[in-house]
Amino acid sequence: MNLPTPGTIHKNFDVHEIRKDFPILNRKVNGLPLVYLDNAASSQKPEYVISQMDDYYHRLHANVHRGVHQLSQEATDAFEKSRQTIAKFIGAPSDHEVIFTRGTTESINLIANVFSISHINPGDEIILSGLEHHSNIVPWQMACNARGAQIKVIPVLENGTIDITWLDHAITDKTKLISVAHISNALGTINPVEQIIDIAHQNGVPVFVDGAQAAPHALINVADLDVDFYAFSSHKMYGPTGIGILYGKSSWLNVLPPWQGGGEMIEEVKWTGTTYNKLPFKFEAGTPDIAGAIGLAAACDYLSGFDRSELLAYENKLLDACTNGMRSLQGIRPVGTAANKAAVYSFNINGLHPYDIGTILDQQGIAVRTGHHCAQPLMDCFGIPGTVRASFAFYNTMDEVESLIRATHKAIKLLS
Ligand SMILES: Cc1ncc(COP(=O)(O)O)c(C=O)c1O
Repeated sequence: MNLPTPGTIHKNFDVHEIRKDFPILNRKVNGLPLVYLDNAASSQKPEYVISQMDDYYHRLHANVHRGVHQLSQEATDAFEKSRQTIAKFIGAPSDHEVIFTRGTTESINLIANVFSISHINPGDEIILSGLEHHSNIVPWQMACNARGAQIKVIPVLENGTIDITWLDHAITDKTKLISVAHISNALGTINPVEQIIDIAHQNGVPVFVDGAQAAPHALINVADLDVDFYAFSSHKMYGPTGIGILYGKSSWLNVLPPWQGGGEMIEEVKWTGTTYNKLPFKFEAGTPDIAGAIGLAAACDYLSGFDRSELLAYENKLLDACTNGMRSLQGIRPVGTAANKAAVYSFNINGLHPYDIGTILDQQGIAVRTGHHCAQPLMDCFGIPGTVRASFAFYNTMDEVESLIRATHKAIKLLS
């Protein structure tokens, strides 16, 4: 197999060429070409990622960090090189600040656990925003319940942006942490995380950013952001499932206690007690997902082969075309109309249930997501049970946008 060398996969943007990198995009659904518009739930994988993982299992597999034998050393080198690639991809000052987890959800649970045990006392407050995914709500609810602390919520405005002016007055000396999404999965709203971090830090409060939706779309630089913790999942950014990242400033990670106990995270174990390993291993108990780490690093390399701003500009064009085209349909109600949005178009149609629309779109080969998008408090805020969500990736085409509009028109005719 002809594998590109990481770091030298420079391509000019041509969507038809790019589509050839993603084998699954050739398949049919219900006898029609697949139009995959569920990228915010999980994106498809390029051949490059698949082949790098395949190559690992064919040539390199052994457990990491433990063996003196050649194969274990090669596997360890590949695993640690992956960490370095990912650290570079997000602008982390040190690869020791990059912790492998199972994904965004686990990264948030990790910090919610160890931060609350060590830094949250009864009466303290955590601030979240009103447009969070359940993954950035429930772990904090569990932590706050356990510690007798409260959650305060940044309100959401009608256009699906958060009311940043609220934050200035809401931070008190009881506020221990702010955790917000970089980009909303349900609406696509891009939150002003730079401003939130700035306000928080002026008040001495650390910030956790849930970057699950930003990693595939935005250029992330955790050092420039000066963010304290940042999390994302590989499977939403063209990498494999089951792996993700927790970035944390070493000044935080060094003082927080470990989360799970087991092999790898220890320095020495005695019946009288255990001392813990240094970063990043202190937070990585047990055998890691080695192939997953290699796949995620391959996804970073694949993305880095493009001019990312060109990809982003193209995704914005798809969103504009979708937003404009949908306007012509009767009864359409877009949900989330922020000026600064990622390529997510969430909508309802007067009198129709999102599930019914999604089913008719599926019959036409179009994959969208319907429902509350794991953001029930946000749906409550809009007084709706859910939406239909089309979320785009750079491998989608203008023809696919038109197919979506035509198919939605058909759904309206059939269901009204
Ligand atoms: C904004 C956001 N946060 C967190 C998550 C959870 O990600 P995962 O299921 O990969 O852990 C998602 C997934 O949809 C998301 O969109």
